Amino acid sequence: MITTNVLDQMYAFGVIPVIIIEDAAQTLELGDALHEGGLPCAEITFRSKAAEAAIQSMVEAHPEFLVGAGSVLSVEQAEKAIQAGAKFIITPGFDEEIVEYCIRQNVPIIPGIATPTEINLALKSNLSICKFFPAEALGGVRTLKAISEPYKHVRFLPTGGINADNLKDYLEQPQVLACGGSWMVKEELINESKFNEITLLIKEAVKLVAEVRS
Ligand code: 3PG
Repeated sequence: MITTNVLDQMYAFGVIPVIIIEDAAQTLELGDALHEGGLPCAEITFRSKAAEAAIQSMVEAHPEFLVGAGSVLSVEQAEKAIQAGAKFIITPGFDEEIVEYCIRQNVPIIPGIATPTEINLALKSNLSICKFFPAEALGGVRTLKAISEPYKHVRFLPTGGINADNLKDYLEQPQVLACGGSWMVKEELINESKFNEITLLIKEAVKLVAEVRS
């Protein structure tokens, strides 16, 4: 079951940087950029082999950060992420085995959903937070509004195609807990060590969140 603390933190941040990091050694500079930008949280995805080491390194360097794992596709990856210190797990689709494993471990799990049927599956597992993915390709805010209509107590983490231009449109929806996005921490920016640029993009995102939620 998702803990109130993690939920509250996600809501307060409003946006969660979705990170692909190929070289765990860059985690320190990336963590500093997030800190400097005012967004002490990260979803480090298992889209790279360095994910587990990067989670561990960010948790060690910044124990106060809300660090979780994304793009988790197996129980094995969830286990590695949790051992590395991940405080939440996000999956692109609904995977019952991963959901059950995380619930047993008492680690918040946010499964991806794209249809009402998948929201029903989440509800059957007593989950009320779902990742709406891939948000923009599914029709964006318009689809989110329609799909969430029968599920008044479900909150969503829209992710996929979100950026500085449409972030506020999502955050203005009461059913949105927070948004996920990679635009502030793009793989090429990390690979090219453009951490100043990352800091600026993070600051811009933090400002946009404040405009909606302050
Ligand atoms: C994810 O892994 O959650 C999404 O692919 C991130 O989507 P984005 O790159 O469009 O922000």
